[in-house]
Order: sequence, then C-alpha cells, then structure tokens
Amino acid sequence: MMTRCNATSPCAPFRAVPVSEHVYWVGAIDWNVRDFHGYATPNGTTYNAYLILADRVTLIDTVKAPYQREMLSRIASVIDPERIDYLVSNHAEMDHSGCLPSVIDIVKPQNVFASTMGVKALTDHFHMDRDITAVKDGESLSLGNMALTFAETRMLHWPDSMFSYLEADGVLFSNDAFGMHLATSERFDDEIPWPTLEHEAAKYYANIVLPYSGVVMKLLEKLPGLSWSIKAIATDHGPVWREHIDTIINRYVRWAAQRRAMRAVVTYDTMWQSTAKMAEAVAEGILAGGVPVKVMPLASNHRSDIATELLDVGALVVGSPTLNNNIFPTVIDLLTYLKGLRPQGLLAAAFGSYGWSGEGVEQVRELLTAMKAEVVGDPVKVKYVPDQPALEQCYTLGLSVAEALKARQHVES
Ligand code: FEO
Repeated sequence: MMTRCNATSPCAPFRAVPVSEHVYWVGAIDWNVRDFHGYATPNGTTYNAYLILADRVTLIDTVKAPYQREMLSRIASVIDPERIDYLVSNHAEMDHSGCLPSVIDIVKPQNVFASTMGVKALTDHFHMDRDITAVKDGESLSLGNMALTFAETRMLHWPDSMFSYLEADGVLFSNDAFGMHLATSERFDDEIPWPTLEHEAAKYYANIVLPYSGVVMKLLEKLPGLSWSIKAIATDHGPVWREHIDTIINRYVRWAAQRRAMRAVVTYDTMWQSTAKMAEAVAEGILAGGVPVKVMPLASNHRSDIATELLDVGALVVGSPTLNNNIFPTVIDLLTYLKGLRPQGLLAAAFGSYGWSGEGVEQVRELLTAMKAEVVGDPVKVKYVPDQPALEQCYTLGLSVAEALKARQHVES
C-alpha cells in the first residue's frame, strides 16, 4: 500500500487547517461513504485527526486506513511526520485507528498512549509487536511546554473511549462525542448553518450515542468540576465546535434525558398496499386525537432516519405484513436496529395485514415489548385487504395512541 506522497506516488497537496495556536486539523474528508455500519450517511463524513505542535509533537488519533496518505500529506504541510513524538489514540474503532500500525511504522513515535481499555482494544485489533502506554483517568502527560490531560469516557461509545484536553489552547479532543457525519470543506461550526449542524448532530446522537445516554449524563455532570475552559471541541467527525459549544452540550443534556414530545411516527412496509392503507388510517386517528404524526414508509425511509425521529417523539406505531409466517424482513431489520439503540419511554402500537396465518403483527408487538416500549391496545390484524370497518379499527387504534400520549404528557407536566 502507498503510505506517503512522493514523486512516484503523487497525491493532492492536502493542507493542514489551524484550529488554535498550537493545534492543526490533519484529518481526511470522505465524500463517498453512504453507509456507516448500517447508518445512512448521504452527506459523507470526515475522519478527524489533530496535530499538536508542542515541544513533544503529538498526533491525536489517526484516520480510516484508505485515508492515511491524505492525513500524512496534511501533516507534512506543517511538519515532517517523522518529527511526531507522541501518538494518542482516543478511540480504537477502525475509522480512527485503521492506519495506526502503518503510521507507527512510518513515524516511529517515542510513545503511543491510550486508555487502559484502549490498549487492550488496539492489541486485539492489530496484534502489534509494540508497547502502548496506558493512561489513567485524570492523568496529565507533559508535552514539554504544555500538557495533555486525559478523561476516560468508557462506553461513550466504546469501552476504550477517552477525551484528551489541551489546557494551553482550551481544546477538548472528544473522539466521537459531539460528532456528526458531514463531509464539508468547512472545518468549523460557525461556517455551517445551525439547522444543518443540529440535524446531523442529532442523527449522530440517535444512531451512535443514544444507548449510552446514562454515561453522557454522568459525564456532563462531571464536566464543570474539571474546570476546563473549553474554547474548542475537536471531535473525530464533522466540524470543530468553537461557536456553539454551550448549545451542543445542552443538546446532549436534552437528548440524553430522552424527553418525549407529543408527536408520533407511523412506520410500515407493505406487499399489496393493505398495510399501507392501514397505516393511513392509523395516522389519521392519531392526528384526529390531537397529536402531530409523521408517516415513514420503510420503502422510502432509511432505518437511521427513523431512529433520528425517535430521539424525541412520544409514540412509535409499526405495521408489518406477514410473509411466510413471519414479520416482513424490512420491519424486523428496523426493530432489531432500534432495540439496540435502547430508546427509553416510548409508547407503541402494532398493526398489519396477512393472508392465512398472521404471525407478523404479533411478532411486531413482541419486539416492541422487548424494546421496553409501552404497547397501547391490542394489535390490529386484517386478513388480506382492509374493508371500511377494519380501517375504522385502525383509526381507533390511532386515537388510542394519541389519548395515551396526551395522558402521559398530562401526568408529566
Ligand atoms: Fe468514529 Fe466509534 O468511531
């Protein structure tokens, strides 16, 4: 594999981007990626790495393996990569460590640092004949004229995850936390419209961070006690936060609390439009009950976009045909994915059509229960094609969902 740009292996003249007095962004922009382990990324992503020009030149994280040359080229625009003394791995997932062994071979750093769990994770990934030094929560590493302080963020979102904080510049290197999948030529939040930032950060939270919301809450409670004067949050994906720092932290507080709004999502798939007709009737019932509703057919909505909606909606209603005695494949795909994200406090309901056996709808109800959603009413099952009374039944199910949602909001307010 080509590892560096040179006369026989030219590459674009990539440049490093200054983030603060001593820190440069030296990551890579992936304009191509459209699927990130099951998460739809229609706007691509970035893999961010950061170079600290201290007495001990330090590289924070690396990039996905195919982007090694881009990262090294950006580093070379400010310093010879072989002058890097320390390499810090805040997170062992391959999008940040994929080229780590190769970069170690090229750069030959004096030392490589990771959290205790990071050392284990990197060893299990790469089986390298190389010592990695474990750093503890709260430990500081001298870079000569400045210091880097580490904070373990175990399970945000992997066991190895940690933050590094450069007090001299007030830069927090937050690995995946506060990130988003967004490929742009802009490197800072103040160069991108807020609605874009908010949507992409919410989508990232919903699809990556949500299962670890308890960890997020504890970390954000601990943050003020660290007395860090954060001037920039340098995440591993998307732009560096420097203008909306308080806002994105407050969004994380809100998303972690999973407060649910008076809104519902109806999602379904359909074979011959019977479950689709039922979905329309359920949605009309929800709306008639005074609750806004969004209908998200699985034929036109990716699972990760439905997960994003679930960040704050109050109710999820799911429809599935029965296919060969089973739940429809796209519906079990969705529910399996959502179960892993562990949304809290959802109301739910199930419906669907069938031909002769009808197990699919009951399987939807079981999966919603396994997600710990509170299932409203009995599932509505319709043989073959819904008639008017069947559609009235779906409408009534929608009304029941709306009433249950309103009753819950009344109790909570
Ligand atoms: Fe961006 Fe958990 O890797």
